[in-house]
Amino acid sequence: MRTPIIAGNWKMNKTPAETKALIEELKPLVQYAAATVVVCVPAVDIPAAVQAVKGSKIKVGAQNVHYMPSGAFTGELSAGMLKASKVDYVIIGHSERRQYFGETDETVNRRVLAAVEGGLTPIICVGEQKEQREAGYTDALVTYQTTIALTGLTPQQVRKVVIAYEPVWAIGTGLTATDEQANETIGVIRKAIAAKFGRGAANRVRIQYGGSMNPKNVKGLMAQPEIDGGLIGGASLKAEDFAKVVNFDR
Ligand code: PGA
Repeated sequence: MRTPIIAGNWKMNKTPAETKALIEELKPLVQYAAATVVVCVPAVDIPAAVQAVKGSKIKVGAQNVHYMPSGAFTGELSAGMLKASKVDYVIIGHSERRQYFGETDETVNRRVLAAVEGGLTPIICVGEQKEQREAGYTDALVTYQTTIALTGLTPQQVRKVVIAYEPVWAIGTGLTATDEQANETIGVIRKAIAAKFGRGAANRVRIQYGGSMNPKNVKGLMAQPEIDGGLIGGASLKAEDFAKVVNFDR
């Protein structure tokens, strides 16, 4: 009942020319995918990506958005700017932003509100660090992160957002949460959404798993009932690998 969504997070990779080449290679490989397909590219690559995806089912996403509409915020981009550049999705609160750039649950929430009000679909990242899982804090932490991130949205708005559960210890490490671990924690996130916004909204929200998802492990993860897709880093930088993840159901 929820359409799967597979999104590539290119992080700080690819020039505009490389963006065009990768998307051209990807297009025929994902054209008949059942899943929603998104590529979240560096800001300077957005025009090249928007041009290249024309005539395909691939959507373009950004990797961050500021919460103010304009002003003295050097280095930032507003939701209005992204929307005007034909961006549909935006990653918010990725663990790398939290870890290296001081992103907090509060700024994540402000960015989510700005994105939704600006007509973008946020892909909101939550997830625990290794020590937090070992100490038994995972459920409380993802509940807290999710609840704060969505504060101020209506249930109607909540049902359209995308959440990415990304255990920090699984990102770029080759370590993956087990299918059951990922399913269980995503179930906790859905429960947190139900508690605040109702079952109807919680049942509609698409919740991805992220963290070393690849052509080999995608089938097992996607077979879990709570997992609605993936946010893919490393494996999204090669057309063939990313296409295999997108076409997990074939
Ligand atoms: P990875 O990255 O697939 O390279 O682990 C996922 C992410 O950071 O979104």
